[in-house]
Amino acid sequence: MAREGAPIVVKADGLAAGKGVTVAATTAEAQAALDAIFAEGPGARVVIEEFMTGEEASLFVLADGEECLVLGTAQDHKRAFDGDEGPNTGGMGAYSPAPVMTPAVTEAAMARILRPTLAEMVRRGTPFRGLLYAGLMVEAGNPRLVEYNVRFGDPEAQALAMRLGAQLLDVCHAAAEGRLAEARINFAEDHALCVVMAARGYPGAFARGEAIALPEIDDPRVRIFHAGTRRADATLVSNGGRVLNVTARAESLAAARDLAYAALDAVDWPGGFARRDIGWRALAE
Ligand code: GLY
Repeated sequence: MAREGAPIVVKADGLAAGKGVTVAATTAEAQAALDAIFAEGPGARVVIEEFMTGEEASLFVLADGEECLVLGTAQDHKRAFDGDEGPNTGGMGAYSPAPVMTPAVTEAAMARILRPTLAEMVRRGTPFRGLLYAGLMVEAGNPRLVEYNVRFGDPEAQALAMRLGAQLLDVCHAAAEGRLAEARINFAEDHALCVVMAARGYPGAFARGEAIALPEIDDPRVRIFHAGTRRADATLVSNGGRVLNVTARAESLAAARDLAYAALDAVDWPGGFARRDIGWRALAE
């Protein structure tokens, strides 16, 4: 680290609910991040990575051990507050598709990153079957890999699921049975956007057990996915940091955003908060 200097990225090596990453602007900040990780105990491990510039995007690919299929792209909003301010979270909102992932950029990522990874796993005798989520940094049309996860993104999956509908089940089934070669996705020309409602205080300390009243929603383009709720007798109450995912699908990203925020504004939960600017980057383009 002393050799590389700053900015530099320090990550806790393990599951950290999206909150284990420090983008250190100075070596002192990087040292403080290392100290915090190693204070966790003797088993703590750390990954130190180059600081990359560009626009972050997520690419979701299903693999069945031999074939792979692009499920879609999305963009997350990691910071807690509007304007990408505040602490890192697990994700405060997402939209799909990600405009930065043009067909050419997606194909470049598949050709240079995803397919070689999957081919190498076959070569090593450990073919991968499942969901590969590539976190990418795209600069001047050039995608670089930040990290892989072998799961869906949260809340990226909610936006993707709204676009894919029941096809998602069909292609997961095909992957599980090694039939991806014959699987196809019909990408409707639509957009989806998900806004996370979180408990005030998240990603720090927050209260649980607050009553939430949800609106009646009869528009099939709008869904509220539950993430951190439970029933207390007949009442729905908060039970986590990220609590609700208000998601909408429409013919344009702006229309999806308007539908999602209209539904969100009808949720009665004084103890909740949400970013008001989900989609800002794509909508500004
Ligand atoms: N939203 C980021 C993640 O699921 O890792």
